[in-house]
Amino acid sequence: AEPGWSETTDVLVVGSGVAGLTAALYLREQGLHVTVVTKVNIDDGSTKWAQGGIAAVLDPLDTPAAHANDTEIAGVGLCDPAAVRVLVEEGPARVRELIRRGAAFDRNDDGSLMLTREGGHRADRIVHAGGDATGAEVQRALHQAVHRDPWIRLVEHALVLDLLRDAEGRACGITLHVLGEGSEDGVGAILARAVVLATGGMGQIYASTTNPSVSTGDGVALALRAGAAVTDVEFVQFHPTSFVTANVTSVQRPLISEALRGEGAHLVDESGKRFMVGQHELAELAPRDVVAKGIHRVLRATGADHVYLDARHLGARFLEQRFPTIVASTRAAGIDPATDLIPVAPAAHYASGGVRTDLRGRTSIPGLYACGEVACTGVHGANRLASNSLLEGLVFAKRIADDIAHELPAQSEPAPDTGEPGWVVTPAVRAELQRSMTRGAGVLRSAESLNATVRDLSLLAERRDTPRNAAWEATNLLTVASVLVAAARARRETRGCHWREDFPVAEDEWRGHLLHTLDGRTRL
Ligand code: SIN
Repeated sequence: AEPGWSETTDVLVVGSGVAGLTAALYLREQGLHVTVVTKVNIDDGSTKWAQGGIAAVLDPLDTPAAHANDTEIAGVGLCDPAAVRVLVEEGPARVRELIRRGAAFDRNDDGSLMLTREGGHRADRIVHAGGDATGAEVQRALHQAVHRDPWIRLVEHALVLDLLRDAEGRACGITLHVLGEGSEDGVGAILARAVVLATGGMGQIYASTTNPSVSTGDGVALALRAGAAVTDVEFVQFHPTSFVTANVTSVQRPLISEALRGEGAHLVDESGKRFMVGQHELAELAPRDVVAKGIHRVLRATGADHVYLDARHLGARFLEQRFPTIVASTRAAGIDPATDLIPVAPAAHYASGGVRTDLRGRTSIPGLYACGEVACTGVHGANRLASNSLLEGLVFAKRIADDIAHELPAQSEPAPDTGEPGWVVTPAVRAELQRSMTRGAGVLRSAESLNATVRDLSLLAERRDTPRNAAWEATNLLTVASVLVAAARARRETRGCHWREDFPVAEDEWRGHLLHTLDGRTRL
């Protein structure tokens, strides 16, 4: 659509979770004017739902090398060692800066930070807040810091549409739809000297996910339309333990933090057997893909839709103090973790891939940066290590701000749009797409299941509609789902969270990244 209004800023940040708000704050320290646009309200992204915490080497007995090693083991050969080094070495300083911005983490009686453990970690290195409400505290602190700065303009209810580029191909703004803004249809443009995508993930392509309803892959879809390099999207991480309750009416399922297993809770099947013991040396605390697969095997064998988490031996007092969010959400559904087994099953949780960046957060399009879950910096490989995601947002937001401040050209004019007018699909496809993706491209995949989903998606693509927010969102979901399925078909091996029933082992020849394009083609 032709923009009906436009405004200008130094740097445009798209998204208002840990990555977007942290980038905005570091950019302000560089003296730049920042506009943050966000799809609904500032706190509606995934960050506030994070429970476990932030992994960082804060214990004198722990080392960055040990954190890097755990990260790379979880990533099964696809982590970029240079990116991992940046993450683990710069992480502790970024966590301390977050504390200085006002985030209050749980502390021991002697005032030191309380550290816990999650799957795949061989040391206690996870800081948390409010017990299991880490994301909410991080979001609160960043929101307040942003609110205090008059030079950060916040635009809510703003869905981004497309990237604007100048005659040289450099990103110089975006088009967006802002509810109630400007002309009749609300479509406008924000011009900027650099654009930072921090739009989060795409969990809503599945029928059950820990992600909120806004996680519809908008940033990855925008990047694909603009021709930016997008990689590793076949690696969707399924969190092993989302709460299975009949009361949940939305696609988003309550998370049961891995930290509960870190504090000693066990996974058991219907007969009470601890089925992860013997499958991996870390049992319930194996990397997430291993535990999700272990649960999936039990579900397949029994036909049940859940296994159980047994936290009863931890006691009511400890559970209430350490896991207030989980206790509240399970008790609201009639399950008391102090006396009952908690029904759990895997749910889509995190996109390990995304818009490819270098170590400074730069995408393949000059002037376009990506930060947080939307990005693929190389730190997660084929499976993200628990609690490395808030950390990645903090670390790369600072690097992006430094890079932008170092080299920011003058504002350029968008080149005229000569592309084909796009089409959109009806919002009604959303639920069908979610079911088909869960059936065919979920925890376990095969050529047969993926082909069936390809057929479903191509039928859904024919259901065109007129442009409006829900239709643009549905189209973004279809775009990222189609690219994901094409990549999952192409990758004929099992690695990390990509599990192919018909190609059950990791193959050396596949130890590389697939690049994805909008037409569903993939290249190694
Ligand atoms: C959790 O608390 O289990 C989630 C942590 C994460 O996704 O890193």
